[in-house]
Amino acid sequence: MEIGPGAVHLQHCLSLDDQRALVEQCRALVDGAVPAYVPIVRGGGKMHVRMLCLGRHWNGKTYSYEATRSDFDNLPAPPLPENFKHLAGELARAAGMTLDADLCILNYYDADGRMGLHQDKDESEQSLAAGLPVVSVSLGDTARFLFGGLRRKDPVESRLLESGDAFVFGGPARLRYHGVSRIVPGTAPPELELTGRFNLTFRQYDVAAT
Ligand code: SIN
Ligand code: MN
Repeated sequence: MEIGPGAVHLQHCLSLDDQRALVEQCRALVDGAVPAYVPIVRGGGKMHVRMLCLGRHWNGKTYSYEATRSDFDNLPAPPLPENFKHLAGELARAAGMTLDADLCILNYYDADGRMGLHQDKDESEQSLAAGLPVVSVSLGDTARFLFGGLRRKDPVESRLLESGDAFVFGGPARLRYHGVSRIVPGTAPPELELTGRFNLTFRQYDVAAT
């Protein structure tokens, strides 16, 4: 369903089996050798999610990408799994866009998880200029997702992102403000045996010169 130019909500596009496999993979990653952590951002505030970046690390102090987590433990960002990369490409295509993802920000939200209104604008200038999309995948508890305009003060619409949904925003929508106002606890499909929500946002930092 097209929400606006360049913004597509793909509802229930992942099967329960696919969701279950992804949840297992996310669990293993966030509790793996390079674990998820709660970033402290510029200004000193704690984020309300546990974050793990794959492929490239987003540094919440500098709002820029780097290979190792210099704002936390100096460990290298784990690689982006091939199946994740593949999934992101497929979902972008399903939304009528293209993406050769090279990084993913994996966030875990507990019942109190949320994320303030922000733009995703720390990818390369070329990537942003090309309008290469962000592909977001939701697993587990439903989130109330806020989707605004290109200016912080623009009106915001609210949508529920349910488990197995994808939300793709690229082209003219690439820099639209967005956030998560709340999680709806206990709404994850029981088969996932998941309390809370995983969200994966795929992006492409590098743009091959053509
Ligand atoms: C984000 O904007 O980085 C996360 C969005 C979401 O959790 O749905
Ligand atoms: Mn974002």
